[in-house]
Amino acid sequence: MTKMKKVQPQLPYAAEAGLVNESKTVNTLRYEDVYYDHQPGRVTSVEREGTQTFVLASAGKLGLRIEVWSDDVIRFFYTFGGQVDDFSYARDPQARIQAASIEFEQTDTHSILTTANLELRVRTVDSSVSITARDSGQLLHEYAAPFYARTTLLRGLDQMRLQFKTDREEGFFGLGDKAWDTDLNGRCLDNWCSDSFAYGRERDALYRAIPFFYGLRDGSAYGVFVDNSYRSHFDFNSNRDDLATVWTEGGEFDYYFINGPALDQVAQRYAQLTGLPELPPLWALGYHQCRWSYYPESRVKELAATFRDKNIPCDAIYLDIDYMDGYRCFTWNKDYFPDPKQMISELRDDGFHTVVMIDPGIRVDEDYPVYTDGIKQDAFCRRSTGEQMIGPVWPSECVWPDYTDPDVRDWWGQLYHELYVEQGVSGFWNDMNEPAMFKVNSLTFPLDVRHDFDGHGGDHKKAHNIYGMQMTRATHDGLKALQPAKRPFLLARANFSGGQRYASLWTGDNVASWEHLALANSQSLRLAISGYSFVGSDIGGFVDDPSPELLTRWLQLAVFHPLMRVHSMGNNTDGAAETENEEVKKAERENRQDQEPWVHGGEHTRRNRLAIEMRYQLLPYLYTAFHHHIATGTPVLRNLFFYDQHDPRCREYGDQFLAGNDLLVCPVIKPGIKTMNIYLPRGEWYDFWTGKLHAGQQKLRARVKADRLPIFVRAGAVLPTVEAVQHTAALQRLDTLHLSLFLADRGEGTLYWDAGEGYGYQIGQHSTRSYRVERSGQQITLSQVVDGQFNASFTQANIRLVGLTHAPGKVTVDGELLPHALQFDQRTASVVVPFNFRTVTIE
Ligand code: NOJ
Repeated sequence: MTKMKKVQPQLPYAAEAGLVNESKTVNTLRYEDVYYDHQPGRVTSVEREGTQTFVLASAGKLGLRIEVWSDDVIRFFYTFGGQVDDFSYARDPQARIQAASIEFEQTDTHSILTTANLELRVRTVDSSVSITARDSGQLLHEYAAPFYARTTLLRGLDQMRLQFKTDREEGFFGLGDKAWDTDLNGRCLDNWCSDSFAYGRERDALYRAIPFFYGLRDGSAYGVFVDNSYRSHFDFNSNRDDLATVWTEGGEFDYYFINGPALDQVAQRYAQLTGLPELPPLWALGYHQCRWSYYPESRVKELAATFRDKNIPCDAIYLDIDYMDGYRCFTWNKDYFPDPKQMISELRDDGFHTVVMIDPGIRVDEDYPVYTDGIKQDAFCRRSTGEQMIGPVWPSECVWPDYTDPDVRDWWGQLYHELYVEQGVSGFWNDMNEPAMFKVNSLTFPLDVRHDFDGHGGDHKKAHNIYGMQMTRATHDGLKALQPAKRPFLLARANFSGGQRYASLWTGDNVASWEHLALANSQSLRLAISGYSFVGSDIGGFVDDPSPELLTRWLQLAVFHPLMRVHSMGNNTDGAAETENEEVKKAERENRQDQEPWVHGGEHTRRNRLAIEMRYQLLPYLYTAFHHHIATGTPVLRNLFFYDQHDPRCREYGDQFLAGNDLLVCPVIKPGIKTMNIYLPRGEWYDFWTGKLHAGQQKLRARVKADRLPIFVRAGAVLPTVEAVQHTAALQRLDTLHLSLFLADRGEGTLYWDAGEGYGYQIGQHSTRSYRVERSGQQITLSQVVDGQFNASFTQANIRLVGLTHAPGKVTVDGELLPHALQFDQRTASVVVPFNFRTVTIE
């Protein structure tokens, strides 16, 4: 159990310059501003509303409602001045309070609430809270000071603050978008969606705000999700005073304590609260090629043709801002793209999906219907004075839709009609939605801008962090309304907790450096455990050019990141996109220093092809992992310590991760290395490439090859794969599924498969196959149970047995002997059987 130092309850944060505490003021003098401290004070009564809500009345102005959302999730809702507004953008509309077994007891000193798994105590004297796990008796959450709020005469409520005890040993993870070491203990972090061009390590805040973290103390995990859209700060013991402090710059302090004790359980419970994405179209899990920007049409076609000529698989080509006419969203530059519909359809015939960018900044232009119509609809944000909020982004003057208004969201959604329905664009890319604004240090709107906030009203302080999220919601819902039978694909930059329901995301404008390769991995992992599994980075780096080795290592890593997209800035130097200068435009057009997989030629192209082919081979496994994610909330990518949170060495090897349940990936994040240290956690692990079995809980010095990463497979795994194809549509025509059995005494695996598009899967049109393996002496039995009615194209399964100690002689399928069927090579045997077998016995 954690030893807690005795901590003195802290006074409120020291006043900022010129801010004077009310008790120190004199009525006849004047000050910059005057602040007031508020604490709940003594509990005066506890009222039970219904069965699972407790309302605490106290001496101060701060009110507290405690809602028991389940035996493991407790919501604390601090309000100031008695107002309760239960509205939340982050919470999944489907999330419901679940029945819990609650007991309540009032003693002289405490109000005590127990659920099946937690004991919650509120101290009568000052309303402070502690939570203990009932089975282990472990203290999980203990206030170090009573809850605190600050108001000032000029700003009103400007701080709501929770402070709890911690220590140096506690691990803090999550918070989405942080370019820091995995463990955030010792850091103070800021949540404020920020355009972060060429950000560096430890720059904060970045593009997204995800006010959710995990604590891991003495092997027990819990989570805290602060459902508040204001700027928020998370200080995890940065003063080494064994205190963690979370404060928001306004609003209600509405937080959920989420019990584990397993990290996976915290992830799953957070997903129940904030929701999950739908299954993406299968093509979106293929390889994507992007650049700022591919144009004109001939260049796009040349790109597509080169992929096919060089036999490098690819499913999507992106068009960045230059496809538009003068950066007017929802238009085409007809000089570059005279017939977009025809081009898109030709690309589709060749297996390519077209994804185009849409920004929130709408050009101020009386001849541009999106602008004039938006003005008519009163769709754009206004300042507190009532004027339109006008500012520079790509076009020098823009207005921005107020996506927090449901009518504006509907209006925005139907703007996609022509691109999506008429012209056949497959997916969209919402960029600059922090919202980013050029030329000012603040990078964004002034804070007085007004927002509808779905009828609740508010300024930009309140709406900034959810602005991007509401843009993705408007786009996502619009796409669904326009083509209800299609799964939307949307990639976005800024977002908030819960935005995973609407969009995938990428880590923004990174740099072609080895440090950024490591960051791309740690950020993707952090985002994945923070609710965003559909995530990836600009492979190769957005700014600058990667060396051949760097690009290859990045591609090899991104095979396992759900979004696999190369993107680069090309030669768009600062301001180039805005320029009318023909020289600069020409240089941009002619630029060939791109990041296509063949850019470095020869052996490098071969290695890059191998990496992308591997992605396609693994698609049945990755699609299954994605399905598992949407069914359970388990992230697709997980840090090693999610696998064994009790093993401290899993935290030491922070770059290694699990992709799905069975693959352990060891990224190569340094140039020129021939060997590297890796750690295998408990259990046994097969080398993916050689089939060699290793015991777990040991360090290995692994050899590093240029054309692959060290990868290990959990002993007992059944891995579904296919032959590499050039694009995902071809996957649906394959007749052979490969099933690799990485042998242990008992094993299991799953294949989830469906049409890869549409919603048939929700009414049974899927093929979910559960495999079980048993080994007893020399006999191995593989059985299959099938659920769902989807008719896959597979007619046969090629079963590969990895880890055999002898050459087997006999194969029986559903009781019938299969003569002369086995191939045996060193430790591996393979046999082809009908896809719909029930039992295969090999001995
Ligand atoms: C900023 C985005 O982060 C980047 O990916 C994009 O290429 C540029 N905007 C231009 O649209």
